[in-house]
Amino acid sequence: MKFIVCNNYQEISKKAAEIIADVIKAKPDCILGLATGSTPVGTYKELIAMNKAGDISFKTVKSYNLDEYYPISPDNDQSYRYFMNENLFNHIDIDMANTHLLDGEAKDPDAECKAYDKAIEAAGGIDIQILGIGRNGHIAFNEPDEALIAPTHKTGLTADTIDANSRFFESADLVPKHALTMGMASIFGARKIILLANGASKAEAIKELLSDEIKTSNPSTLLKLHNDVTIICDKEAYGE
Ligand code: GLP
Repeated sequence: MKFIVCNNYQEISKKAAEIIADVIKAKPDCILGLATGSTPVGTYKELIAMNKAGDISFKTVKSYNLDEYYPISPDNDQSYRYFMNENLFNHIDIDMANTHLLDGEAKDPDAECKAYDKAIEAAGGIDIQILGIGRNGHIAFNEPDEALIAPTHKTGLTADTIDANSRFFESADLVPKHALTMGMASIFGARKIILLANGASKAEAIKELLSDEIKTSNPSTLLKLHNDVTIICDKEAYGE
């Protein structure tokens, strides 16, 4: 696991965008694993600027997002589909048909999750997965627990995550209590992973990433088992 410690959020965003752009340049029909949350927004802004400047093109790129609330309509401005359209897809030359998110309205969520893993596999697997991290160490919506689930699945959100994510909703009661999320194995299938973290609220979780331990009470620590992971964080998250 490699750490890149940056001076500020803008540096994190630039570094992450450069790594993603290199993957796109090397493989124009690559598959991106995308994340939501406030952390990757700066990276998406950098990618939009690179696309507008003609440095990279998304015309043949496909994307799969990590997770989606459940239940939620794609038109809800708190859905991750809405977030991705607003923060990235609407501003780049990607074919919308090539952008994939779990369906927050799926009638049969288990079938939806199974089909999602199959579709990623059939497409050839994710070339680069972008991750944020919850302040409790969750990645995507794989929450701390005694056991973690390998494939894409429906999950409940912890009180801590509902509280952290309530800042985007009018009130905490409006935060959906469930989500569909890529599982640990689905995430580990990516050939390359970058995890972005900024701010002191992530320092506890990152401290455990820096230790030698792997524990399901901090799902991000499992990333130590993957052979191509880069953590891009600022000094506050790194605990300096
Ligand atoms: C949500 C998402 C995660 C994300 C986390 C951190 O729970 N499901 O994928 O990493 O929030 O969000 P933020 O970047 O806003 O701190």
